[in-house]
Amino acid sequence: MAGGARGPISTFAMPEGDMAGCCGSTSCGIGRCFGHFSHRYTRRYERRGLEDTQRHLIAGLSAVGFAGRSLLEIGCGVGYLHQYLVLHGAATAVGVDLAWPMLIEARALAARQGLAQRVRYVSGDFQDLAPALDTADITLLDKVVCCYPDAAGLIAATLARTREACALTLPRRHAFNRVAAHLGAGLFCAVGSRYRPFVHDPAMIDRQMRAAGLAPVFEARTRIWLTRIYRRALAPAGG
Ligand SMILES: C[S@@+](CC[C@H](N)C(=O)[O-])C[C@H]1O[C@@H](n2cnc3c(N)ncnc32)[C@H](O)[C@@H]1O
Repeated sequence: MAGGARGPISTFAMPEGDMAGCCGSTSCGIGRCFGHFSHRYTRRYERRGLEDTQRHLIAGLSAVGFAGRSLLEIGCGVGYLHQYLVLHGAATAVGVDLAWPMLIEARALAARQGLAQRVRYVSGDFQDLAPALDTADITLLDKVVCCYPDAAGLIAATLARTREACALTLPRRHAFNRVAAHLGAGLFCAVGSRYRPFVHDPAMIDRQMRAAGLAPVFEARTRIWLTRIYRRALAPAGG
């Protein structure tokens, strides 16, 4: 284990006022959209706990092994997935999100669980921030790739920061999800948001993972979501 949280520092680029400082970019539009839902994410977690996709990720990571590992969660929202993993044995976690209100909730939730010294939060677009962040043993992308237009770029930036394993949840590429994403895009456009949901091709992501030397070691599905964990192939003995 190395890297991870350097200390109880939270790096927020908080605009003045509310989110009126949106620069007009797609990233800013995503952050602004999800910023509006941050309280709802916390309330949902407090009422209902972890989601099925997160239980799948935890089951897969338990099989792979996360004790003592450093975590980097991209699009961490209010943080309960990596906070659960740190509470149950992971060493440290860094959470990155485009929506700073999510990170305010995450920091408060971490403090309530006594995790302030082991987690750190950074606000911004991970693709831009990645070169300045430490690598982590395990990277997590739970329902994040589907919020971002450049899936290949986001995965490449994640892999460049992954030492051991990458765990992700994506929408399954079936007709229902594609129609829902299409309708969702229309709805967000109609309300003036630049956020758009995407159903990127899991096969394309699978090829990208394998090309980078990672192999799938765990898979689970709900009707909507596909959870996969990829792990770096071990170097051949004596090699
Ligand atoms: C659907 S929410 C999921 C949040 C959390 N993973 C969960 O499952 O509760 C997606 C989150 O990813 C963030 N996000 C999307 N693209 C991002 C990027 N390129 N860099 C950082 N955060 C991103 C959004 O701001 C949003 O909070």
